[in-house]
Amino acid sequence: FCSFQVPGGHVYRGTFVHSTQQAPLQILEDALLGVDTEGKIAFIGKGAELDRLSKTFGFSPPDITQLEQHEFFMPGMVDTHIHASQYSYAGTALDMPLLQWLNTYTFPVESRFKDLGFAHRVYTQVVKRTLRNGTTTACYFATIHTDASLLLGQIANDFGQRALVGKVCMDRNNSVKHYKETNQESQEETCRFIAELLGKKYPLVKPVVTPRFAPSCTGVLLGQLGEIAKNNNLHIQSHISENAEEVKLVNELFPESESYTDVYHKYNLLTDKTVMAHGCYLSDEELALFRETGASLSHCPNSNISLCSGVLDVRNVLKHKVKLGLGTDVAGGYSASMLDAVRRALDSSKVLTIQDPEHETLSFEEVFRLATLGGSQALSLDDQTGNFEVGKDFDALRVNVAAPGGPIDLIQCDGLKCATQHLLYVYLSSLAGDDRNIVEVFVAGRKVVPFTE
Ligand code: GUN
Ligand code: FE
Repeated sequence: FCSFQVPGGHVYRGTFVHSTQQAPLQILEDALLGVDTEGKIAFIGKGAELDRLSKTFGFSPPDITQLEQHEFFMPGMVDTHIHASQYSYAGTALDMPLLQWLNTYTFPVESRFKDLGFAHRVYTQVVKRTLRNGTTTACYFATIHTDASLLLGQIANDFGQRALVGKVCMDRNNSVKHYKETNQESQEETCRFIAELLGKKYPLVKPVVTPRFAPSCTGVLLGQLGEIAKNNNLHIQSHISENAEEVKLVNELFPESESYTDVYHKYNLLTDKTVMAHGCYLSDEELALFRETGASLSHCPNSNISLCSGVLDVRNVLKHKVKLGLGTDVAGGYSASMLDAVRRALDSSKVLTIQDPEHETLSFEEVFRLATLGGSQALSLDDQTGNFEVGKDFDALRVNVAAPGGPIDLIQCDGLKCATQHLLYVYLSSLAGDDRNIVEVFVAGRKVVPFTE
């Protein structure tokens, strides 16, 4: 708090929009926000408080960066589930259901990441693309290859993205000859991955224990991974209940378990640092177990629709008070953009309302919160990021709704508040808004877009 000093820090003045626990969308007009030398938010106040704030925090008006009328800051978006290794075929190969899709397309492509040159190319592209699209935090699946997974961590660090990175673990049910490990290899390589990644001391990159999903892992491996996560207090990620055939397979593979959720629970893989992707077919009892353990869900609507997997009832998840974020799930989802995830989440919710008019459709504001604060909560990073609270890191997007090349047709409004609300809605919910409107991206106070290459 007291380390704040201009010129080391930075002060911005203009419109800020974000979510809080109480309000899914809060618009702060003519706000002043100070970022300290460590990239943390030192204060946020009203423009009218300029005198007091400048005295307290030791800056003067010429130090202030003033946003334009048609600009605002919003929190950086949190992609709670993305396969960095599948970026190379995003937008293709969406003609099969999940289990066939994995064997036909996914495993052969992922096996190529043994080649570090290939891994470097793809991982650089995915980090750059997601940053440019406003993903300040990403929770990544890599592949089974430890060195390539470490490389993904290094690239995220080099470009300044906040990231959880997982070396994928899988010891059974794989059609591709050279793309599997024994449970012993998987355990040893996971330990090496964690030790080496932590050893790099990247400030914003953490390892995440990553059993691919129950059908790819024996009980022995799941138990080993649960132990590793527990002993080192690590994040955990996997998939759950994405597709009906998959659920059936899990019931056959783990006959002693009561449910898919129970499989992970038995092996200590449901903790308050766990994020599970999809969850389309979870029962109310399973959701209650998520709530009890503090585990969260990643809603991946593009993927759910693209692979004809299912439609998650987000309203029901929220009713169970399960933590929830959004994920792109590249390449099951064809877009790496979180703005796409926002739109697909709205569409999916509307599909449920079409099917049942009693269904309470998600509001635009609620989905905005899922993409930002919700994601940070789902990844247990909400003490550091997710909105513009004092003490958190400044992870932010500077949005210009009238950016060159972005066709925006503004409806006239009375007053800035109305205009801002309208701009935000247009920006996030129509084709007019895309990465061209995201003119600058900040992670922990550092400007990471445009790139310095
Ligand atoms: N379940 C297990 N692996 C995967 C994957 O790579 N993508 C998706 N969408 N689901 C999975
Ligand atoms: Fe996935």
